Amino acid sequence: MNNKITVVTGGNTGIGKATVAGLAQRGATVVIACRDVARGNAARDEIAASTGSSALHVMPLDLASLASVRAFAAAFLARFPRLDVLVANAGVMTERRQVTADGLEMNFGVNHDAKEKKPGKAALDDALAERLWTETERLVACAASTAPAAKPAAVERMD
Ligand SMILES: NC(=O)c1ccc[n+]([C@@H]2O[C@H](COP(=O)([O-])OP(=O)(O)OC[C@H]3O[C@@H](n4cnc5c(N)ncnc54)[C@H](OP(=O)(O)O)[C@@H]3O)[C@@H](O)[C@H]2O)c1
Repeated sequence: MNNKITVVTGGNTGIGKATVAGLAQRGATVVIACRDVARGNAARDEIAASTGSSALHVMPLDLASLASVRAFAAAFLARFPRLDVLVANAGVMTERRQVTADGLEMNFGVNHDAKEKKPGKAALDDALAERLWTETERLVACAASTAPAAKPAAVERMD
């Protein structure tokens, strides 16, 4: 992964953070795209200390806001010449009804489904399209593929 430029959404914690560490260990430049920059900075410092990487960057991204998605993409495109790998990891699962800044139901507004592209992550793909959809770039989508087999959501409890 030497000299590869990568973005990991939700790279501040969980699977995303482990992915950032793995990419950093392999020599990649990694942008940790997350909604809480302070937590992103903490993850960056921890991963930099454990891997010795000096190519970790934190940039704000809230997938529950299309304005934030567009601002992230504009800042990324201005700062980096390529996007070799986008790891679309950030996701949310909530039964309590919440809405995004754009008034969309939160699960619908944030999450990505490879079959039916949903707003937040799909908007990110679109906003980065000029760098993403070339011959060599890779999109890695983290999704709960087992979710459809799980107990159906208690729709009647969603207020
Ligand atoms: N863990 C599993 O067993 C499992 C199984 C199947 C699929 N997955 C999928 O794998 C991905 C990571 O799972 P995980 O267990 O590591 O989850 P996690 O620990 O809950 O981390 C989720 C990440 O998504 C970020 N996020 C949530 N809403 C966001 C938003 N509006 N904008 C930007 N970032 C947002 C969170 O940021 P904050 O830290 O700010 O909340 C966090 O960084 C998820 O997409 C999940 O659906 C996980």
